[in-house]
Amino acid sequence: MAEIRRVAVLGCGLMGSGIAEVSAKAGYETWVREVDDATADRGGKAIRRSLDRAVERGKLETAARDEIFSRIHITTRLGDLKDADFVIEAVTEDLELKNAMFRELDGLCGPDTIFASNTSSLTIAAMAAATSRPDRFVGLHFFNPVPVMKLVEVVRTIATGPTAFERAFAFARSLGKEPVEAKDASGFIVNRLLVPYMLDAIHCLEQGLATTEDIDKAMSLGTGYPMGPFTLSDFVGIDTLYRIAEIMFEEFREPRFAPPPLLRRMVTLGYFGRKSGKGFYDYSGDRPAAVDLGITRARV
Ligand code: 3HC
Repeated sequence: MAEIRRVAVLGCGLMGSGIAEVSAKAGYETWVREVDDATADRGGKAIRRSLDRAVERGKLETAARDEIFSRIHITTRLGDLKDADFVIEAVTEDLELKNAMFRELDGLCGPDTIFASNTSSLTIAAMAAATSRPDRFVGLHFFNPVPVMKLVEVVRTIATGPTAFERAFAFARSLGKEPVEAKDASGFIVNRLLVPYMLDAIHCLEQGLATTEDIDKAMSLGTGYPMGPFTLSDFVGIDTLYRIAEIMFEEFREPRFAPPPLLRRMVTLGYFGRKSGKGFYDYSGDRPAAVDLGITRARV
């Protein structure tokens, strides 16, 4: 099988831009596809900002930054990805959308190209089945912020071939990450454990156990987590957490994965967390301030 030289990333949002950055940093020519010029432009600027921040913090020389950035090619045309050796999809958690792209790329890319999805909660088999290459299809699940978090879950479906899996595992290592192998079960390892924990924190809040800040403080200082569950939910995105929980609930039908009504209300009202400026905390001031969700106060 050919050496991996060219990497394609589908989507240049929070995860896609981070994946493109680490890929280009590792020396791969990296093609990133976004749907339109405006989103492509925003994605390119996000990568540039992240690299600039690394220069400001003294972690990267300006020449290295320019070299890395020159390896990133942002496009709106799927056809530009046809020569990729490795394709990583990082678009929104919409199976039809993902499969439409995979189907089209399946006809464009060569037979050796490995397809991977960065899905948080959908099963990899559901995407592999849309292509003619389920044996060359894996999950490659990164964590936010991608340039910082060391873990990548490498997911093997029942159809993934050993060569493709080994190549994907080695590829994750070549990005400077620590890969772990996981089976193709919704949420894999981290979200299988993390999502019920985050949802349980919401139940605790709803039951008036403690305030948002104190639950966060307790979990962060009491267990050494860098962020408490509500800060983390806002960081991941309330809409994203809701969608992941819904998919996991559909898959397992276990109450622990069911998104609490409060989460749904927050999504309805656009309380998406940090990205919208408001979630469990309001980010409009100098410091995040807990949002009054009308629960603790009513019960205490
Ligand atoms: N891009 C690049 N580097 C970043 C960054 C970003 N977006 N954010 C922070 N960093 C770097 C900083 O440059 C700094 O590097 P340095 O120590 O070498 O100077 C380092 O990370 C620490 O940053 P800060 O000092 O600014 O802030 P913190 O110490 O608070 O760390 C954090 C920030 C790394 C985000 C930390 O709070 C953390 O680890 N939080 C938990 C994140 C987490 O759990 N992520 C997983 C979410 S679940 C997920 O992604 C799965 C999905 O399916 C939902």
